[in-house]
Amino acid sequence: MKVTLACDHGAFELKESIKKHLEEKGIEYKDFGCYSKESVDYPKYAYAAAKPVADGEYDYGIILCTTGLGMSMAANKVNGIRAAVCTNEMLAEMTRRHNNANVICMGQAVVSQELANKLVDIFLSTEFDGGRHQRRVDLFTEIEKGNAI
Ligand code: RB5
Repeated sequence: MKVTLACDHGAFELKESIKKHLEEKGIEYKDFGCYSKESVDYPKYAYAAAKPVADGEYDYGIILCTTGLGMSMAANKVNGIRAAVCTNEMLAEMTRRHNNANVICMGQAVVSQELANKLVDIFLSTEFDGGRHQRRVDLFTEIEKGNAI
């Protein structure tokens, strides 16, 4: 499994702590920045980490900002990305099972480093349920194409 990782200045410490966690777990990742606490524009980092997932080069993305919200909004503009803000274990599990989310978004001001690691573990290890949920997720693609549904 290969994952992308990105943050803005509001979640630099959280990204560094998740990197350590991924290394301990032996999970391959690529860090798309940012690389310091200097103020940056989060959509650029959301895009950098989301595009390779949409292109099938990476399996999942982990993107972080102060709240998780701006990163998720930007990532969800990339066709093929299903990015979900997760703040607890249930959301991390359900967005994989029902939405086939491929990007998890978290906020450094919202989750502790311990909780973030737990949510990453749940997100990366939970399978999509498929079935009726596949039909619903397929409708996202119709929306992306501009089709009425
Ligand atoms: C940066 O100040 C902050 O707006 C950003 O980290 C994020 O929370 C946006 O949604």
